[in-house]
Amino acid sequence: MDQLRFDGRVAVVTGAGNGLGKEYALLLGSRGAKVVVNDLGGARDGAGQSANFADEVVKQIKDKGGVAVADYNSVVEGEKIIKTAIDNFGRIDILINNAGILRDRSFAKISDQDWDLVFAVHMKGSFKTTQAAWEIFKKQKYGRVVMTSSNAGLLGNFGQANYSAAKLGLVGLANTLAIEGEKYNIKVNTIVPTAASRLTQDILPPSMFEAMKPDLIAPVVGYMVHESFEGTGLIIDSTLGFATKTHLVRAEGSALRKKPTDPVTIESVKQNWDKVVDMKDAKHIQKISEVTVNLVDKLQDFEDRSKMDGDRESYWTTY
Ligand code: NAI
Repeated sequence: MDQLRFDGRVAVVTGAGNGLGKEYALLLGSRGAKVVVNDLGGARDGAGQSANFADEVVKQIKDKGGVAVADYNSVVEGEKIIKTAIDNFGRIDILINNAGILRDRSFAKISDQDWDLVFAVHMKGSFKTTQAAWEIFKKQKYGRVVMTSSNAGLLGNFGQANYSAAKLGLVGLANTLAIEGEKYNIKVNTIVPTAASRLTQDILPPSMFEAMKPDLIAPVVGYMVHESFEGTGLIIDSTLGFATKTHLVRAEGSALRKKPTDPVTIESVKQNWDKVVDMKDAKHIQKISEVTVNLVDKLQDFEDRSKMDGDRESYWTTY
């Protein structure tokens, strides 16, 4: 296969001074993209700032013949990062929202500051940076956006209530942006990485830490922001040279009463609970309209059947 390249494209990678973001920036820079290497340069809990991280990555890209510029703004002021792209390169095509911090505490000990800072960097940062790029993407009818979630968000993880909530919030943001971006050729997808970095050095066992190089995930994200990538609204989990799509599924469900005139009671809910939670025929619902149409169909079916004689046990068993 011909090498997939990014010549003529401008990419912004947030939090690109370390870990995963650094690998994304190096890879895109080596494939012809002009890269804005954003990094505030703080500690992993968000404290402090410095130019060193971003400058070092820019140097590495330039040393290999690539084109890059450093940006030291916080993602909370995402419009400044996008301005750096426009001022230096005149356009933006790719945005990888990667910057992140951790302020892990067991739930009872989470302070307002722990909550607000984590939400500021992950949620507000992704919102501000993406919104600043959005009008440009719409006008040029082209954009590739990646949000960064986490298995802590999809599945929960002890001591990460603030982080989990913000990380799952990003999936919701991506879901809606994928819909709003559809007619403008803006693809919005989510990466769920697991990699060795300063965020995971005291979480992953040493042997796993050694094996989980972030450069194994960079090509997955690289493909997800390439012009040939058609997917949107996808959640892609990747680690150790492995990648898999993940999504929410919805069970068939169950009616909680036999006919429209029956009440729904706590007892009728209990009686039907096994069917409510039976995932045997669970389906991936791709669009909110499918849920609505499904409900309207079931309601109509229920009303039609209620007018007929016969065994009502089988009526409207799912919805
Ligand atoms: P890292 O700590 O090595 O890199 C994150 C970078 O973001 C740092 O260089 C930091 O200075 C920068 N940053 C922090 N706040 C910023 C702000 N306000 N503005 C601009 N830059 C800022 O972490 P890592 O592991 O590479 O994480 C990258 C992303 O992947 C994060 O969003 C993280 O939550 C996510 N993630 C990482 C996992 C892993 O296994 N490493 C697992 C799941 C998600």
